[in-house]
Amino acid sequence: MDSLTLRQPDDWHLHLRDGAALQSVLAHTAAQFARAIVMPNLKPPVTTTAQAIAYRERILAARPPGNAFEPLLTLYLTDRTNPAEMAVAKASGMVHGCKLYPAGATTNSDAGVTDIRRIDAVLEAMAAAGLPLLVHGEVTHSDVDVFDREARFIDTVLAPLRARLPQLRIVFEHVTTKAAVDFVRAQAQGVGATITPQHLAMNRNALFQGGIRPHLYCLPVLKRERDRVALLDAVVAGDPRFFLGTDSAPHARSTKENACGCAGIYSAHAALELYAEVFAQAGALQRLEGFASEFGPRFYGLPLNAGTITLQRSEWTVPAAYPFAGETIVPLRAGETLGWRLAPPVT
Ligand code: DOR
Ligand code: ZN
Repeated sequence: MDSLTLRQPDDWHLHLRDGAALQSVLAHTAAQFARAIVMPNLKPPVTTTAQAIAYRERILAARPPGNAFEPLLTLYLTDRTNPAEMAVAKASGMVHGCKLYPAGATTNSDAGVTDIRRIDAVLEAMAAAGLPLLVHGEVTHSDVDVFDREARFIDTVLAPLRARLPQLRIVFEHVTTKAAVDFVRAQAQGVGATITPQHLAMNRNALFQGGIRPHLYCLPVLKRERDRVALLDAVVAGDPRFFLGTDSAPHARSTKENACGCAGIYSAHAALELYAEVFAQAGALQRLEGFASEFGPRFYGLPLNAGTITLQRSEWTVPAAYPFAGETIVPLRAGETLGWRLAPPVT
C-alpha cells in the first residue's frame, strides 16, 4: 500500500498553550485534524465556561486563513470547582469534558485536585449533565515509584470512582501501561482511553539511549516494553475504546534542555505520520482509520468528519527545530526520516 485515504481524523488530547506559543503551533494540528480536545492547563488554568469560550476565540483567531479547525474545550477541575458550573458548561455546547489533574502530577497542575473526594459533588453534576471526566491517571505521592504511579492510580482512585459513580463517562488519558489497558478492557461501558504516538513507538530505554534524552521526557513517562506491546495490541485489535490523542505538549528548547527539564513531547508537526509508521510496522494500517477518525467521535457523541486526508508512503526528514514563540522547539523525531507523509490538500 503506497497511499492511504482516511476520513479526516481528530486529536482527542492536545496542548495548544496560549499567546505566541499558540500562534506557533496551531497550524501543525490544523493541517491534519478537523477537531481537537484542547487541554485547559494554561497559566492561569481554564476553570470556567466563560474562560473556555474566551480561550476558544483566541484559538479560532490563531487559525491559518481559510482553515476550519474546531477546538473542543475542557475545564480544569480544582478543589473549588462549583458543581453548578457543570450544567453551564454542557449547555454552552463548547465544553466537552473536564480534566482531572491530581495536584502536582505534571505541567501546570499546581491548582489541580488534592483529593478526589473533595469533588464528589462536581463529579455527580458531570454525570448528570453528561460531561465526561478526562483523567491524568497518576498518583503524585513522592514515595510511589514514578513507573508505578499509573497502576497505583487505577487501584486507589479510578476503580473506586467507577464503583461509586458508574454513570460518569471517563477518558483515561495517555494510557501507558498494561495495567491501564487491562482496566479499560474490563469495564462494561463508559470508559475510553487515548494513546500517544510516543507510548506506542517507544519504551523507557529510549530515554537513556546513548545519554539522557530530554525531548523524550513526558508524563506519564515511557514505560516497559511489555507495556508498549499491550498498548499496541489494543489498537491492532481495533478495540473502539482506544483512540487517538497525541498529548502534543510544546515546550521551548531551553526549558527541555535544562537541569530541570519540563515534561512534554511535541508531535503535532507529524502526528498522523508517526501513528501511520507504528500501524504500518505492526501490519495494521487498516486499523488506523477507526483509531484516528471514528472511535473518538463515537465516544464523545459527536458526528464523524465528512472530509478525507491522504497519507503517502514517501520519505521526508523532520526538521531539527521549529520556531516557537521567539525561541525554538525540538519536535519528536527531529532530524530523522519518516516513511509516511500527509499529501497536500486537494484544492
Ligand atoms: O508530558 C506532559 N506534558 N504531560 C502532561 O500531562 C502535561 C503536558 C504539558 O502540559 O506540558
Ligand atoms: Zn496532556
